[in-house]
Amino acid sequence: MPNELTPDSLDRARDEGLAALAEAPDLAALAVLKPAVLGDRSPLAVARKAVGALPGPERADAGKRVNALSQELTRAYDARRVALEADRDARVLVEEAVDVTVLAGRLPVGARHPLTTLQERAVDVFVAMGWELAEGPEVEHEWFNFDALNFGGDHPAREMQDTLFVAPEGSGLVMRTHTSPVQVRSLLNRELPVYVVCPGRVFRADALDATHSPVFAQLEGLCVDEGITMAHLRGTLDAFASAMFGDGLKTRLRPSYFPFTEPSAELDLQCFHCRGDAALQPCRVCSSEGWIEVGGCGMVNPAVLRACGVDPDRYTGFAFGMGLDRAVMVRHGVTDIREIYEGDLRFTLPFGLEA
Ligand code: DAH
Repeated sequence: MPNELTPDSLDRARDEGLAALAEAPDLAALAVLKPAVLGDRSPLAVARKAVGALPGPERADAGKRVNALSQELTRAYDARRVALEADRDARVLVEEAVDVTVLAGRLPVGARHPLTTLQERAVDVFVAMGWELAEGPEVEHEWFNFDALNFGGDHPAREMQDTLFVAPEGSGLVMRTHTSPVQVRSLLNRELPVYVVCPGRVFRADALDATHSPVFAQLEGLCVDEGITMAHLRGTLDAFASAMFGDGLKTRLRPSYFPFTEPSAELDLQCFHCRGDAALQPCRVCSSEGWIEVGGCGMVNPAVLRACGVDPDRYTGFAFGMGLDRAVMVRHGVTDIREIYEGDLRFTLPFGLEA
């Protein structure tokens, strides 16, 4: 009788097999164990092979004993699998239980950024007057950003310390330093007359601190039509100021210089808080000046019209550009411009209820 078939070794195969199956802690362990107990190299398989080599009379008896072992181990394996599957199903029912009676939590509600809100309100005021919204790229060609706007080749705005140039050197591309290039694009792309308002982000080579940001927001306006005068500019700006910040709020123009307008003016808004009334001063919003500086404006320089293929003998126009960040800051008492651009929800959320 070969070793594999002695009652001792068959008993050992059975005891060890049953013990291992009984101890398999989960289905994965059982799957790993299966070849060792029932597979091709298991003691059972080795015994079965040995039976085949026995002479006839001994084979029947040994075969019966090996079959009995096989049945016992297979039964034990099946029983363990059924038990472990039942365990798993019971555990999943507990672990993945869903309490359908729990009240749904409220989804956190976001808030629109105050800059976006202000920008949209400003655009709405102009759209209500029949103007159109125009947009342009933030990476802009120098021709649109400077040349077409009548900046001389040696204008200081073209220096590295003011303007962010886009690599490689000589690409001709800059991060637009103002929204004024959209004036040029609008004149080139649209039929006259043109009445457009252009909100957008602009970029300058400024270090970030409480009052400076390398990115900030502007609102540009351009009107080119026959017979446009500076009176139209005043009237439009006054209408905008009233609609935006309160009835009767005035604007003030102070002489200034921009290459793309002639004449040019600084644009001040009457302080929406004190309106220059001494009874309401000292005023924190305008430092008791009565006025808040918001941007520049003027009559479109004929050189700009010409660069855009517009006949300056027939058409005239006005333009203005204002910073929006400052408006957000004075309206909401924000003292640090970084708060506007850092994207911290603690800043934005309190504005959640603003229309
Ligand atoms: N582009 C100017 C700036 O960024 C602002 C400006 C001034 C825009 C006068 C205009 C304008 O359209 O007419 O400082």
